[in-house]
Amino acid sequence: MSKRTKVAIIPGDGIGKEVMAVGAEVLAAYQKKRGLRYEVVTLDLGADRFLRDGTTFPAEDQRLIREECAAVLLGALGDPRVPDLGYARDILFGLRFGLDLFSNIRPVVCLHDRLMPIVGKRAADMNAVVFRENTEGVYVGMGGNFKKGTPDEVAINEDLNTRKGVERVIRAAFEYALAHGRRRVLMSDKSNAMQFAHGLWQRTFKEVAAGYPGIEAKHMYVDALCLQMVRAPQDLDVIVTNNLFGDIVTDLGAALQGGLGMAASANVGAGPVAMFEPVHGSAPDIAGKDKANPLATVLTIGMMLDWLGEQGAEEELTAIVREAIDTGRCTADVGGTLGTRAVGDFVLKRLA
Ligand code: IPM
Ligand code: MG
Repeated sequence: MSKRTKVAIIPGDGIGKEVMAVGAEVLAAYQKKRGLRYEVVTLDLGADRFLRDGTTFPAEDQRLIREECAAVLLGALGDPRVPDLGYARDILFGLRFGLDLFSNIRPVVCLHDRLMPIVGKRAADMNAVVFRENTEGVYVGMGGNFKKGTPDEVAINEDLNTRKGVERVIRAAFEYALAHGRRRVLMSDKSNAMQFAHGLWQRTFKEVAAGYPGIEAKHMYVDALCLQMVRAPQDLDVIVTNNLFGDIVTDLGAALQGGLGMAASANVGAGPVAMFEPVHGSAPDIAGKDKANPLATVLTIGMMLDWLGEQGAEEELTAIVREAIDTGRCTADVGGTLGTRAVGDFVLKRLA
C-alpha cells in the first residue's frame, strides 16, 4: 500500500451514480477481505453540483486528489440538462490532463462466448489491450471559429502531437507487453493521410520498438485496424494509438466484448495517482431504473486494485464477472434478467 491513504470516488451523473454505488460496496468488501485500509472519499461533482452552485472541479478537490489520493474512481459524466457539457470536460479532462495521465489503458477482452457478436468467433478470439494516448491530439481543445454563424464560417480543431507525448505512450505499451507476456505491439495511425503528425508516430514507434527486440512491432492504418478487429480479432494483442483513434476503436472494441457495459479502463501516467473509469457514459435514458450494467465498474475496480499493487485482485474480480455472465446473473444488455443492485449483490456474495 502506498503512503497515499485515500481513494476518491466521483459517481458523477446518470447511471454513474448507480454503478458507483455498487463499486463502493465491492471496494469495501475487497478491502475488508484483504485487510486494506484506503479511506474512500466521495466527491460531489457532476451536473447536479454544477446546476446547484456553478462549481465544476473545485481547487480543493483537485488538491485532495493530487496530494492525498492513490486513485480516483469515476462513474460517468453527462446530463441532458447541461447540453454544452463544459462542466463534464472540466472534470474528465481536469483529471486526464491535470494529472498528466498519458496512457488510457482499455482492455478489449471478451469474457464469454455468449458476448461475442461475430459469427464464427469465440470469446478467446478477442483478447487485446488498447493504449490510447490521453493528453494530446485533438482533445487539447486548441482551435476556434472565424465568422461563426455565417455562411463563411471557418472551424478549426488542432491535432497536437509532441515527440515526448507520442514516445511515452508507445513506451508504456511496450513495457506493458513485456510485463504481461504479450508478444505483439501494433501502432495504428493514419500516416498515409496525415504525413506530419503521424509521420512523428511512425518514426517514434520504430525507434522505441528497436529497444524491445523480443516483441513484434507491427503497424496498421486505423481504417485497416477497424476492418481487422471485426475480421480477425484473434491477431490483435497490444494496440497503441492516438487519443481520437483510441476513443473510436475502443467503442468498436466494446461491441466485441459484450457492449459498453463490459468495458473497463485505467488512466495512468508517471505520477503517483491514477484514475479509473468504466468506458460507458451516463446513459440518461436508463438512469435511475436499476438497469445499468455494473460489471464494467467491477472490472475497472480490478484494474485499480492491480495498479495499487494488490496481486490477484484483477483476476479474482474478472473471474466473478465471468461467472455472473455464465450463470445469467447479469443485466439485460448482456443477456440476464437482474437489476444493477442484484448484480452487485451477486458480486458481493462471491467476494465474501
Ligand atoms: C471516452 C469518452 C470521452 C472521450 C468523452 C465523454 C469526452 O468517449 O472516455 O471514451 O472522448 O474521451
Ligand atoms: Mg469514448
